[in-house]
Amino acid sequence: MAEQQEKRKRVFSAVKPTGNPTLGNYLGPMQHWGGMSDEYDCLFAVADLHALTVAIEPKELKENSLRLFALLVAVGVDPEKAIVFVQSHVPAHSELGWILNNYTMFGEARRMTQFKEKSEKAPENVNVGLFDYPVLMAADILLYKADIVPVGDDQIQHVELCRNIAERFNGRFGNTFTVPEWQTPKSGARIYSLSEPTAKMGKSDGDASGSVFILDPPETIMKKFKRAVTDSEMRVKASEDKPGITNLLNIYAAATKTTVEQAEREFCACDYATFKTRVGEAAVEVLRPVREKYESLRRDDGALASLMNAGAERAKRLAARTMEKVRKRVGLLPL
Ligand code: TRP
Repeated sequence: MAEQQEKRKRVFSAVKPTGNPTLGNYLGPMQHWGGMSDEYDCLFAVADLHALTVAIEPKELKENSLRLFALLVAVGVDPEKAIVFVQSHVPAHSELGWILNNYTMFGEARRMTQFKEKSEKAPENVNVGLFDYPVLMAADILLYKADIVPVGDDQIQHVELCRNIAERFNGRFGNTFTVPEWQTPKSGARIYSLSEPTAKMGKSDGDASGSVFILDPPETIMKKFKRAVTDSEMRVKASEDKPGITNLLNIYAAATKTTVEQAEREFCACDYATFKTRVGEAAVEVLRPVREKYESLRRDDGALASLMNAGAERAKRLAARTMEKVRKRVGLLPL
């Protein structure tokens, strides 16, 4: 009976279709998304509206969005179980984003470290969308009353802001939104560049030697790992002054589902060259089924487009319910 069934919690997350998704993206949140449908009602989106906040060529955005959608399915998100869709296909995201702008304080948005970082990185394009980015992200989450938001640790601050916005809105207008919790993966929360192991593994093709892309062929992956920066010691041990080795241990642990401690034991008698090869092989193996599934999906972009439409239709229905309530609450005339 319906009453007796415990209500399943809802999960929402999204990825921006900028750059080329990396091993870091996969070992972080994405690899867990497929399995989450067993326990939760899941929605996963391609955050194409968020991608507009950085300078991106239209052709590139289009291809990236298609690629990312296919990748979400390829990493194991089953479009029959989860709702997989493209953010801009559900106009309610923009609409709620605008409404939430009015319950977000300039001062709290200004504290976002990612805005500061991105502004410094691209001073010629510090646009209002970039500043407003976390408010749109809050709309993404609140629209579906998500309980849990799986993210990489660089997004925690944005989910905290979303909680503040939800609480403020609920406080003023009565309980409307679910206040979500963020969740970071136990391993692989942050994977660093292989060539510069103190910087996050970047998605832009400019970081091609330090970044392993999910769709890289095995030979390329192995080449990148063999060139990975280490240190002048000969000790496979995680420590703060050994960022290269620590990163490789993290990658290995996340790719083979062991712990860093176990990996340290496994490689304690290894030289760096052997260690790097073994980590590379682990990365190749964990990415192989994803790449193969991706390639088979991309053989039929028509089928992919119908999956996309079906996802958007399902998301729209859920979003419409929230929007109706929100409109009423703030005093907009009903549609
Ligand atoms: N900002 C996220 C990132 O860069 C992507 C994103 C957009 C997102 N909307 C979201 C993540 C909503 C979680 C929930 O990774």
